[in-house]
Amino acid sequence: MTFCRITGTGGYLPGAPVSNHDLVARGIDTSDEWVAERTGIRFRHFAADAEHSSDLALHASQKALEAAGRSAADVDLIIVATSTPDQVFPSTACMLQHKLGNRAATAFDVQAVCSGFVYALTVAEKFIRSGSHKCALVVGAEVFSRILDWNDRGTCVLFGDGAGAVVLEASDEPGILASALHADGHYHDILSVPGQVCNGAISGKPLLQMDGQAVFKFAVRVLGDTAVELMQAAGLPLDSLNWLVPHQANIRILQSTAKRLNLSMEHVVTTVAEHGNTSAASVPLALDVAVRDGRIKRGDHVMLEGVGGGFTWGGVLLRY
Ligand code: ACO
Repeated sequence: MTFCRITGTGGYLPGAPVSNHDLVARGIDTSDEWVAERTGIRFRHFAADAEHSSDLALHASQKALEAAGRSAADVDLIIVATSTPDQVFPSTACMLQHKLGNRAATAFDVQAVCSGFVYALTVAEKFIRSGSHKCALVVGAEVFSRILDWNDRGTCVLFGDGAGAVVLEASDEPGILASALHADGHYHDILSVPGQVCNGAISGKPLLQMDGQAVFKFAVRVLGDTAVELMQAAGLPLDSLNWLVPHQANIRILQSTAKRLNLSMEHVVTTVAEHGNTSAASVPLALDVAVRDGRIKRGDHVMLEGVGGGFTWGGVLLRY
């Protein structure tokens, strides 16, 4: 049986950090106190106009490949999770493949909003375990600043741009121990960008809209439930989890989830203060931070969890 494990991680945040004070200076009717108290967010990064998701993905991928000791030519599968693709088509994965100089890999995008990375990682795992592919580049990359309504102070202060990547390879030892992906389209309208390209024009609102309180309750419930589901699937007690790396939407969602799981916040990786919510990029960015600063070590039990529009949610439990 082929297993698979993460052999390298990388992350990239464009430009200089933009503080809550900077947003006020740019004319947003908010305050550092409001944003920091309600969300834990203090900074986020925004891509330059000429930078696309594939550009951010390229930087993160190069770092992940370097950490794994691999070159772009070794990669036979590229999956990019994004809700802010470079263009309608081709996929951002194909644009990334071109920028990497790889001409042989299977390449496609996955769209599950803030759950996108755990969806993409789970899909990649299934390709590798089937034996059809050996070395996958799995990326979450977003330029959410492009789809924010700057007149809606309840949402525009929450998000940032960035990319995170991992190299996932076939291995004799696990690796990924369990994964779970869920969706319930009944909740499609509590977080959405309803616009579409139609007959050469944009039809409907092409900017993000959200029912914040509904999202909050939903996220806490499913992040807790998925963590329990994954530990049970792997036959492990909850207290054997070394690190929870959840989607970084809001510090209060993370604290409530940890409380539900009876898990100390010392075991929860949080980057929301410095990155804001980077949607599909948030989990691999947070993973990369904790790997590079030495908190996550080989052999640790690590749970990655995502939740986002759709609604979609899920997780991946791994022995790092
Ligand atoms: N600055 C100052 N005041 C603000 C701001 C702001 N940026 N935004 C809203 N307000 C005001 C509102 O106008 C309102 O004022 P009023 O009472 O005079 O009418 C007041 O603050 C309360 O507004 P609410 O929207 O009710 O605020 P709430 O307490 O629900 O907090 C928040 C909003 C932070 C978005 C919260 O609902 C939340 O954390 N939700 C989770 C959603 C989330 O994190 N989504 C991320 C994307 S989803 C995902 O990634 C899974």
